[in-house]
Amino acid sequence: MFKRHRRLRNSKNIRNLVKDVYLDVADFVYPIFIEEGADIRKEIASMPGIYRYSIDRVEEELDEVWNLGIRSLLIFGIPKEKDEVGKEAYNDSGIVQEAVRYIKRLYPEMLVVTDVCMCEYTSHGHCGVLDENGYVKNDETLELLGKIAVSHAKAGADIVAPSDMMDGRVKIIREALDETGYKNIPIMSYSVKYSSAFYGPFRDAADSAPSFGDRKTYQMDYRSSWQALDEAREDLDQGADILIVKPALAYLDVISRLKDNLNAPIAAYNVSAEYSMVKACSQNGWVDEKDIVLEKIYGIKRAGATIIITYFAKDLARWIAEGI
Ligand code: PBG
Repeated sequence: MFKRHRRLRNSKNIRNLVKDVYLDVADFVYPIFIEEGADIRKEIASMPGIYRYSIDRVEEELDEVWNLGIRSLLIFGIPKEKDEVGKEAYNDSGIVQEAVRYIKRLYPEMLVVTDVCMCEYTSHGHCGVLDENGYVKNDETLELLGKIAVSHAKAGADIVAPSDMMDGRVKIIREALDETGYKNIPIMSYSVKYSSAFYGPFRDAADSAPSFGDRKTYQMDYRSSWQALDEAREDLDQGADILIVKPALAYLDVISRLKDNLNAPIAAYNVSAEYSMVKACSQNGWVDEKDIVLEKIYGIKRAGATIIITYFAKDLARWIAEGI
């Protein structure tokens, strides 16, 4: 005797008919790293296939992304100058601001999301201004985050994505945007961001590893599940429009909890090590890259995220175009 489910698996057409999770190229946000300088196109050693570009070399990449149908980018900047307070982050002609202007000139219809944080801009690599004991000063950092968000909006960013995890940042950023005429710019907040070893390769990619200590005092502890919903609710109350859960794969329960309890679009950030681990395995011939990537991206979608920030976006777009 076959169970009903078994009957619904017995041919490809039936499996296709009863599936209820879909991937669409519009689901994906593709991260791009832009470095200040000229003639740079440098592969990130720990992230094969992902490059840092200077603005003068990024056109080819943008064309490729556009031609694959990807319409959303997340921009990270790597400045030449870093200092204690991350001044370059809110410089109106800083690297992110110039990159956004360039992308919008080339592809006005491309949705440009900017990462609002200080860790790529501070000499110590932490996500805010530090006190004499090396702790991040929350309230002093907030003011700077507001300035960063406004300078991104001024440059043409469509959405700002604060990733610093300071308390009260969504409210401050919302107010700063509203006061400067950017009422329409949504905030995609990294609401549920765990202190995670899965960011390792990113810190190579963006030169943002903390020079001492770690981020455990401001990023979340993965052993506490009760904090997730509170953090997300607080961000919504403060004016967040989209909630990010980060990383994705070890936190599918968190995605689904947010999905079941809140009414907001959820974005999952499929972070750097989640990419690099697949790359390393597939380069060794230990797994089939396409099968592995599809399985995990469908998993993220099934958990309840409708937006997926992923370094695999170009591959996924290709596979979707080929009929998966
Ligand atoms: C902070 C930021 C980080 C990532 C995205 N934004 C690093 C961190 O929080 O330490 C990590 C993304 C990834 O690992 O792919 N600006």
